[in-house]
Amino acid sequence: MGLTDTPRWLPCQYLYDAKGSALFEEITRQPEYYPTRTEAGILERHAADIRDATGPVSLIELGSGSSVKTSHLLSAYAKAGGPVTYVPVDVSAAALERARARIGRLHPTVRVDGIVGRYDEAFPRFRRHSPAMVLFLGSTIGNFNHGESVSFWQRVSRELAPGDYFLLGADLVKDVSVLEAAYNDAAGITAAFTLNVFARMNRELGAGIDLDRLEHVARYNEDWQRVEIFARFNSKQTVRIEPLDSAVEIAAGEMVMVEISRKFLLRDLTSHLATFGFAVRQVYTDDRRWFGLLLLQKEES
Ligand code: TRP
Repeated sequence: MGLTDTPRWLPCQYLYDAKGSALFEEITRQPEYYPTRTEAGILERHAADIRDATGPVSLIELGSGSSVKTSHLLSAYAKAGGPVTYVPVDVSAAALERARARIGRLHPTVRVDGIVGRYDEAFPRFRRHSPAMVLFLGSTIGNFNHGESVSFWQRVSRELAPGDYFLLGADLVKDVSVLEAAYNDAAGITAAFTLNVFARMNRELGAGIDLDRLEHVARYNEDWQRVEIFARFNSKQTVRIEPLDSAVEIAAGEMVMVEISRKFLLRDLTSHLATFGFAVRQVYTDDRRWFGLLLLQKEES
């Protein structure tokens, strides 16, 4: 692919709003979207083993959302006895409040000490919770490009105390048809999720985009080992950015890439993580080997 063929890339991970998170919750319930339920199954099956491996630690979850999957871990840590502190980190105060209420009901002995904010705002608080395990589930790591991922691991590695743990959920390379179906659900929820970003641009930037002439496209790119999510402009449109008093022309047929979801091979991931001082202590997976849950430990430097 020559440089001129490189699609426009509008990284949208910071553009999700409350409607976006509600749509995402709905995506996780679609029959084609296997990652959430596969990861939840792995967590359920191995929660006690993970607790045995780490001993008592505080659990810090980056991007906790509704904290539903985490329930299996909280049960295992509570059952093992001793005080358990859960630190969910999420940009949505409403999601944290719902999580707190739910955990109060289901796991009354767990102390919840949430942080409203982005991941980077939680990093400086890792040390005071040590011994700790950071949870980063849902293969969100796959939504970072290579550079973002490198800065993420450098920072996490710096902020974690040696001996602390990190539990990483990573979606694995698999059959293209399974991957593409997961991001093209028949009910059209993922399509609505993609278009929602542009609806927000209309509201907040006065973009004036005709959403009826956009189409959601998700394709697996074998060379880059990632699902690429696009908004295809079916006809020429001018996208206005009122606060900057500027505009961008999008040609008919142009694909604007809004998200990537990288897929991983366990051996590559293991060697990549080693370069940041993380040792893989355990790899949990499902029968089909579709999803990996990696228990990492920050090594002594
Ligand atoms: N971490 C999720 C994933 O990569 C996020 C996600 C699910 C997503 N569906 C999406 C991101 C659709 C963009 C578009 O699977």
